[in-house]
This record gives sequence, structure tokens and C-alpha cells, in this order.
Amino acid sequence: MSDVAGRPLRAASRRAPRASTKIAAKPAQTASYSLLARQAAGSSRKPILQAVSARGVKTLNFAGTEEVVYERSDWPLAKLQDYFKNDTLALIGYGSQGHGQGLNARDNGLNVIVGVRKDGESWRQAMEDGWVPGETLFPIEEAINRGTIIMNLLSDAAQSQTWPTVAPLITKDKTLYFSHGFSVVYKEDTKVIPPKDVDVILVAPKGSGRTVRTLFKEGRGINSSVAVFQDVTGKAMEKAVALGVAVGSGYMYETTFEKEVYSDLYGERGVLMGAIQGLFCAQYKVLRANGHTPSEAFNETVEEATQSLYPLIGQKGMDYMYNACSTTARRGALDWAPIFEKTNLPVFEQLYESVRNGTETRKSLEFNGRSTYRQDLAKELKEIDDQEIWRAGKVVRSLRPDYKTE
Ligand SMILES: NC(=O)c1ccc[n+]([C@@H]2O[C@H](COP(=O)([O-])OP(=O)(O)OC[C@H]3O[C@@H](n4cnc5c(N)ncnc54)[C@H](OP(=O)(O)O)[C@@H]3O)[C@@H](O)[C@H]2O)c1
Repeated sequence: MSDVAGRPLRAASRRAPRASTKIAAKPAQTASYSLLARQAAGSSRKPILQAVSARGVKTLNFAGTEEVVYERSDWPLAKLQDYFKNDTLALIGYGSQGHGQGLNARDNGLNVIVGVRKDGESWRQAMEDGWVPGETLFPIEEAINRGTIIMNLLSDAAQSQTWPTVAPLITKDKTLYFSHGFSVVYKEDTKVIPPKDVDVILVAPKGSGRTVRTLFKEGRGINSSVAVFQDVTGKAMEKAVALGVAVGSGYMYETTFEKEVYSDLYGERGVLMGAIQGLFCAQYKVLRANGHTPSEAFNETVEEATQSLYPLIGQKGMDYMYNACSTTARRGALDWAPIFEKTNLPVFEQLYESVRNGTETRKSLEFNGRSTYRQDLAKELKEIDDQEIWRAGKVVRSLRPDYKTE
């Protein structure tokens, strides 16, 4: 591994010779952080280099707390490719993260292979994405044997179930990579205890694997957290950051395996998914019970939120969104926000405790460890799809002038 920052970017398109396997048969492109960034650069790649090396700040003040951050700009593509020139990234599992991280790393010109159950749904999807059986697509055990960096992106339940066969294959000099602290932190339940002689690292994208991919294709990057559980080589954090860049991160912040899994399980059960569905439904039901039409109830609950107001929060913060609304709306929202906060605080405390004491983990392992996990999840999601609020939403969306068939 060597630092080649500053090398002309055209060198980045060269593929380094690989030790243990053939290159991907159908890489979409090999010399850019993204398809669009490259297209925008046209024949000259210089603009990409300028764009990614604009800033090298390492410590930033987040509302009064100093935190270390890592940016993609510190890893020009040539440096990244050189760093991993002797490595094979073995991506185990091809769900949403496997798809996003794998394709991004492949498009960044790294040597990536995929390991999944032969002839399963993931095998089929991987083939659709251009992974070639016997060249870049293998059964799980074979992919681990061929890889130097083992990226365990099986479902969290599957990581636990397969560990007895996976563990003996994680031999000295390999690196074990996760995108969630789940398996390692809840070892009493998962039984996942990494071998003592390998680096164990984490890159956890803060978004769905689909977003990991679409942001990369747009020339942007997902925010990710990085952590080290075990540092045998002394290079574990550096490797984690480099892998974070490889799989499509824009910037990364430091965490621990424990903090990552607590905050992640909490967030997705809370405002990111569980709480938002609960709040939407509660608000919609009260409107319907008071005689409002589905169209009105949906517009006042979901459509205005997602299409008008929430993007404003994303752009410039909550006060900006408030300021964009009427004084009538501002007064009412200012009055009611503390009431919602107070009412919900005990629920969030209960939720955090349920995460911390492993209750959420055990539920997930039991449910997602079933052989019927895909059908069982699909059944419950169908129930959501069938709720009046979301059926009304389909009609509302179809009336958008830019509507395209779903
Ligand atoms: N999705 C997210 O938004 C997200 C975000 C950040 C981090 N993560 C983490 O990233 C990791 C992967 O998550 P994901 O959402 O991409 O994947 P996932 O949908 O949870 O898991 C899918 C993969 O697991 C395999 N699998 C399931 N049961 C198996 C078994 N018994 N034996 C072998 N393989 C099995 C599936 O293969 P088959 O098709 O053969 O069943 C598929 O390849 C997890 O640790 C997750 O917590 C996820």
C-alpha cells in the first residue's frame, strides 16, 4: 500500500494485477467515483479530481463538539486503487447493501467478487447485475476463500446462522468487514465472535443500499460511519475509511460497533421508519374520523410533508422550513412541537432500552432467521400497502403532473 495522492487521474483507469481471481466481466466503468461525474467531466477528467480534492478538514465542530471526519477527497481514485491493488473484496450477501456497495466498488475499479447461496434470489440478482458465475460470482465459502477482505453483508440473522461455517474460513491476514455492529455486539445471541488475528472493521452507510448506489451514480456520496472492533495490523481504521470511500461514501464519521448498532436499531424503529408510519397513520385516522376525504387527509399528512416541507428541512434545517410557512402555521407548530416531544420522549426511552438490552436483536434474529422470512415480511408489508392511507396515496401520486407509472 502506498500513498499516491496527486498522481494524474488518468493513471486511475489502469487495473492493477490481481492475485486471486479474474476481474469483473462487466464493469460499468472503472475510472470514476461515479458515472455522472465522469460524464460531466467529458474527455478531460481533471474536473473530477478538482471536485474530490477540494477539502481536507479532519476535525469539525458539530454544534460545540469536535469530531473527526474523513472525506472522499483524501482518497483520489488512483490512491484508492493502488491501496487495494493486492486485495480481493469478497462481498458475502447481495441484498440492498451488497448491490449498492458491490457495484460502487466495482465501478471504482477495485477487484470485487460476490458470494451468495447458489441459485437463490441473490444469485439471480447478482447475475442480472453482471457478476459472472465462476469468475466474479461464487458460493459463499468459495468467495471467502478467494477474498482478502471479507465483507459480511448477509442479513444480520444469516450472519449468525452461517457463522459456524464462515468463521473457520476467516484466516489470518484476511480482514473482516461489517456494515452493522449487530452480529459482533450482540454476541451472546448471535454467537459471532471474530477470530483474534484479523482486523475487524465497519462501514455503515446511513441509508438504504439503493441510495448508496443512486447517490454514487449522481456523483454524490452517502454519509457513513466507520469503526474498528479489532486492530491487528495497526491499519484497521485507515482500511475502514478506504473501504468506505470504495463503496460510495461521501464523508464518514467515527463511531464504535456498539454505538453504531444502538443508534441504528433505534433510529430505524423511530423517526426513520417506525415512528413516521405511526405518526402518519394516527394523524390520517383522526382526519378521516372527522369527515375529511382520503384525498384531503393524505395531502395534509403525507404529500405536503414529503413533497414540500421535508425537503426544506433537508436543505437548510427545521427553522428554514418553519420560516417558509405561514405565520399561522409557524405559531401552531411552535406550540405543538413541545407537546409531541414530551408525549413521545418516554416512548423513545423505552425503545432505546429495548435496543440496549437486546430485546430488539432477539426478535430480529428469530423472525429473520425463519426460512420463510422473505414471505413473512412481504405479508406484513402488503398489509401496509393495503391501508387506506397508502391506497389513497397511490391515487394522489398519479395526479402529479410528472407522474410515471409505478
Ligand atoms: N439495508 C439497509 O438499509 C442497511 C443499511 C446499513 C447497513 N445495513 C446492514 O448491511 C447488512 C446487509 O443488509 P441488507 O439489507 O443488504 O441485506 P438483507 O436484505 O438483510 O440480507 C440479504 C442477503 O442475506 C442472504 N441470506 C439471508 N438468509 C440467508 C441464509 N440463511 N444463508 C445465506 N444467505 C442468506 C440473502 O441471500 P438469499 O437471496 O439467497 O436469501 C441476501 O443475499 C446487514 O448487516 C444490515 O444490517 C443495511
